[in-house]
Amino acid sequence: MLRPRSGRSRLLAAHGRRRHAPSPIGGLPILAAFALAVGLTGCKEPTGPEREISGARLFSQNCARCHGADGKGAADAPAGTRDLTDPGHMSMLTDQQIKRVIQMGKPPNMPAFGRQFAEPSIKVLVAFVRDLSAPRPPAGAAEGDAP
Ligand code: HEC
Repeated sequence: MLRPRSGRSRLLAAHGRRRHAPSPIGGLPILAAFALAVGLTGCKEPTGPEREISGARLFSQNCARCHGADGKGAADAPAGTRDLTDPGHMSMLTDQQIKRVIQMGKPPNMPAFGRQFAEPSIKVLVAFVRDLSAPRPPAGAAEGDAP
C-alpha cells in the first residue's frame, strides 16, 4: 500500500522540477500590454478597417521628427533631445513617467501632446518607447556567446 504512493509522489516531484525550466518569454509583458490595448480599441478609437494600434506608426508620425525613426535623435533635432535608446537614462523612468512626459511635455523643446492619444494608444506608445532601450543581443548571437 505504501510503495505505489511514494512512487507517485516521486513522479510529481520530478514533474514539479521540470516546470521550473527557464522559458523564453521575456517579452510577454509588452506583448500583453499590446494585446490589451488592441483589445480595448474596439469601441474607443476606430483607426481604420484593421483597428490595430501600431506603436511604430504612432512614433514615426509624432515623435520621429525629433527623436529619429530609431529613437536615437533626428539630425536636426532641437537641443537636448533625449536618446531614447539609452538604457542608462531610460531605465530611470517608470512607464508612468514616460506617459506623463508625452502628455505634459518638457519645456522648452519636448512638446506636450496632452490628451491627443487615447488611453490604449498611449499604452502602446509607452511600450514602444520602453522597448527602444531594451537590451538586445546582437543578431545571430548564439547562446553563451558572451561579448
Ligand atoms: C519637437 C521635438 C520633439 C518631439 C516631436 C518629441 N520629443 Fe520627446 N523630447 C524632446 C526633447 C528636446 C527632449 C529632452 C527634454 C529634456 O530632458 O529637457 C525629449 C525627451 C523625451 C523623453 C525623455 C524624458 C525624460 O524625462 O528624460 C521621452 C520619453 C520622450 N521625449 C518621448 C517622446 C515621444 C513618445 C514623442 C512622440 C509622442 C516625443 N517625445 C516627441 C523633443 C521632442
